[in-house]
Amino acid sequence: MKEKLELILKNALDEINKAESLQSLEEVKVKYLSRKGELNSIKKNLKDLSDEDKRIVGAFANNVSNQLEEILDKKSAELYKAELNIKLNAEKIDITLPSDFRPQGKVHPLTDTINEIVEIFQGLGFSVMPSEYSPEVETEYINFDMLNFPPNHPAKDMQDTFYTKTAPNVILRSQTSGAQIRQMLNQAPPVRVISPGRVYRCESVSARKNNLFHQIEGLLVDKDITFGDLKGILNEFVRIYFGSARPTRFRASYFPFTEPSAEVDVQCIMCGGSGCRTCSNTGWLEVLGSGMVHANVLRNVGIDPEIYSGFAFGMGVERLAMLKYAINDIRLFFNNDTRFLKQF
Ligand code: DAH
Repeated sequence: MKEKLELILKNALDEINKAESLQSLEEVKVKYLSRKGELNSIKKNLKDLSDEDKRIVGAFANNVSNQLEEILDKKSAELYKAELNIKLNAEKIDITLPSDFRPQGKVHPLTDTINEIVEIFQGLGFSVMPSEYSPEVETEYINFDMLNFPPNHPAKDMQDTFYTKTAPNVILRSQTSGAQIRQMLNQAPPVRVISPGRVYRCESVSARKNNLFHQIEGLLVDKDITFGDLKGILNEFVRIYFGSARPTRFRASYFPFTEPSAEVDVQCIMCGGSGCRTCSNTGWLEVLGSGMVHANVLRNVGIDPEIYSGFAFGMGVERLAMLKYAINDIRLFFNNDTRFLKQF
């Protein structure tokens, strides 16, 4: 029996040595040490031995199973470590490798320009009008009539308007100036606001003109406001936006809702003033219209022009961006060609 035990020990050690995975080691353990294992079947036969042999062989059998357990534990720890290392090696990541290229999104140059202009005017004490005063689908009444365009007056032709089929006189607004009306109908003076937004005109598209573009409307109404205040604010805006080195000029103009009216031109950046296609050979590009709010407009919204006066302006966002960044075609803003957009 002792020889049998020695043989079991020898075989078991052999098999443990050969085991290459935790699973095959477990199989060895079951084969020799489980309840139905080889060692146990020997221990079951001990009862047939004499007391003396029982003691000797029993002790030897216990010794064998203790030895096997110890060795199995040791081998199991080794295999566990080896398997873990293989797994870790397989899952290793080199954190110094450059990552996948993920293109980064950016703010559109027009949004960026609007934000910049809004910030300049906020710095000059203007606040942004609630957006509900400035809908893109507007009535002729607000877009024209309340702004002192007489019915059927040829002045309406100044802005070729998109009409809708929704209802007669419902249009895509041709200017942000209607926002002035809604603001003054909702707030008594003093008023000091700006309102950026999209406008639409039915024109043929070219390098200088698009059907859709952006304006920023400004309005200041209070007591004792003069044309000097308007000039001061606009000069300050131009100085901050372009820097002082850019030549600009104030030019008398006409709008039905302002009297007197003026436009601001900025020297063409494409030709430096000598004249080119972008500026129609004039050397200048108009960037905004402005003027003193017409007494009729103040009366239309219930403000007494004997007590209050004000100025207003509307600037073209695309023009301002083109002149700052030397962009010679307005259509570039709307094509969404990433080669163009990436430059900002
Ligand atoms: N709405 C005018 C346009 O689109 C621009 C303008 C002129 C706005 C004079 C004003 C203003 O507020 O006072 O051509």
